[in-house]
Amino acid sequence: MDWGLKNRMSRVFKSKTGRTVMLAVDHGYFQGPTTRLENPRKTITPLVPYADSLMLTRGTLRNCVDAVADVPVVLRVSGGPSILKELSNEEITTSMKEALRLNSAGVGMSVFVGGEHEKQTLVNLGHLVNEAEEFGMPVLAITAVGKEMERDSRYLGLACRIAAEYGAHIVKTYYCKEGFGKVVDGCPVPIVIAGGKKIEEKGALEMSYNAIQAGAKGVDMGRNIWQSDHPVAMIKAVRAIVHDNYTAKEANELFEKEKKRS
Ligand code: 5RP
Repeated sequence: MDWGLKNRMSRVFKSKTGRTVMLAVDHGYFQGPTTRLENPRKTITPLVPYADSLMLTRGTLRNCVDAVADVPVVLRVSGGPSILKELSNEEITTSMKEALRLNSAGVGMSVFVGGEHEKQTLVNLGHLVNEAEEFGMPVLAITAVGKEMERDSRYLGLACRIAAEYGAHIVKTYYCKEGFGKVVDGCPVPIVIAGGKKIEEKGALEMSYNAIQAGAKGVDMGRNIWQSDHPVAMIKAVRAIVHDNYTAKEANELFEKEKKRS
């Protein structure tokens, strides 16, 4: 791996554990003012000290995160449709020059395997990787987002493997209870999990723990952190699973303790 690419990867994945807690705050790019992310600065600021990286758009970065913040950025560079339209109809919307100007540690885009515009998004990924590799920029491929679909291990395995075959350096996907280990085994690059819709904290911590046990290299989590009534306590508990090998039970105890302080 080229030095620059390796160095950027190491800004996202902590060398001590080889894992990462990415904070996903990009939801507004198709959902607008998502619940509890209506004012991104207010949501993001208290969480920055506990995030290994922020995953967001250039608009939120420029306007809602201080440039002196000591946190790497994985910049979302795809978009197109809003939640009112066909979500898979994405293009690359932000240039590599912009990603470099913003000192990004990586760029992220969605692929919609099985979606109406599957081919377009996979070709987007191929082109983005071609360009990113010229500059030592890791590409995060975000899979399995979209309207209701069967997110079982067969589908997730297919989507993740295809993303890796196109050259993604990191793949983000959802966790599934049955066979997630197979999804990880079939994907030759690190997998991080999205959290999905908000569920109770105990369940989200169990999901994070199970994903790490199955070989995920971390989380790229949004709603299950900042839609919690105690987001700082929640991100600390997720970190304990990812970096300190806490069990789900221990992490939940930490959450309960921390929430009293917040
Ligand atoms: C949407 C995204 C989100 O970042 C992703 O869904 C992660 O957030 P959450 O944990 O809330 O699911 O990429 O396209």
